[in-house]
Amino acid sequence: MRLAGKIAIVTGAASGIGRACAIRYAQEGAKVIVADINDKGGQETVQTISAAGGQAVYCHTDVGVESELQRMIDFTVATYGGLDILHNNAYWTEAKTALETTIENWQRTLDVSLRPCWLASKMAIPHMRTRGKGVILNTASVQSEIGVPGYMAYQAAKGGMMAVTRALAMELAPTIRVVAVMPGAINTPAVAISDEPSVSMDALLRDIPMGRLGEPEEIANVALFLVSDEASYITGTGIMADGGYSTH
Ligand SMILES: NC(=O)c1ccc[n+]([C@@H]2O[C@H](COP(=O)([O-])OP(=O)(O)OC[C@H]3O[C@@H](n4cnc5c(N)ncnc54)[C@H](O)[C@@H]3O)[C@@H](O)[C@H]2O)c1
Repeated sequence: MRLAGKIAIVTGAASGIGRACAIRYAQEGAKVIVADINDKGGQETVQTISAAGGQAVYCHTDVGVESELQRMIDFTVATYGGLDILHNNAYWTEAKTALETTIENWQRTLDVSLRPCWLASKMAIPHMRTRGKGVILNTASVQSEIGVPGYMAYQAAKGGMMAVTRALAMELAPTIRVVAVMPGAINTPAVAISDEPSVSMDALLRDIPMGRLGEPEEIANVALFLVSDEASYITGTGIMADGGYSTH
């Protein structure tokens, strides 16, 4: 068990990559707080973990709201007695070009997708220090480094996540590691494969040397490595898991 005795929060764990990570961490012995605004999906994640003999509890959390982040941290410590791993994974955006982007779209994208990497971390750090160590993992993106038309606010958030990852890592070493996983196109509801033929999906797949979307479990395996002691000398950086997309 690679996370035996660890207590982990995964935000956005009602679906996709967050759900796969919560399940993977629990398989490796972690007690997991499943945080999301999707109560039904969050409960399903908990049920999947429990049915396999793991430990998890759902905590309704809008990560864009400061008081809800504090409640999530307090709930975690009250429920499991501490906090070792904070995985900032939830996101929100709308596909918009720069000219279509509104103040509201920009603000909500950054409030939900970027700000928790700092704010939830700030709330988590004292608890990690109490336990002598900890890991903060951010789900960034290939779009942290690559420009794609129509997602400017998202790319601002994802690029910012890497900046926060580096800055926090500098301040928190050696006690707390801060790392990121940078997925390419992953088969989640956000990018779902449709049964309908799609020109844009065909074009996307042509640009991926591996010739397919990644599966959430493939990101969860990278995340598991990063939050485990096997990654004990990695901080302030991210691992790209994109099927080779960013290499050209
Ligand atoms: N799927 C991809 O191709 C891909 C690629 C690169 C990066 N990512 C990143 O992976 C992460 C997960 O994406 P996914 O594809 O699994 O998406 P998803 O839509 O399957 O899951 C996102 C989850 O976030 C939750 N969420 C949304 N707003 C929230 C809020 N305010 N508070 C709490 N939870 C909220 C949703 O309810 C949902 O359960 C995101 O950070 C995304 O940017 C995904």
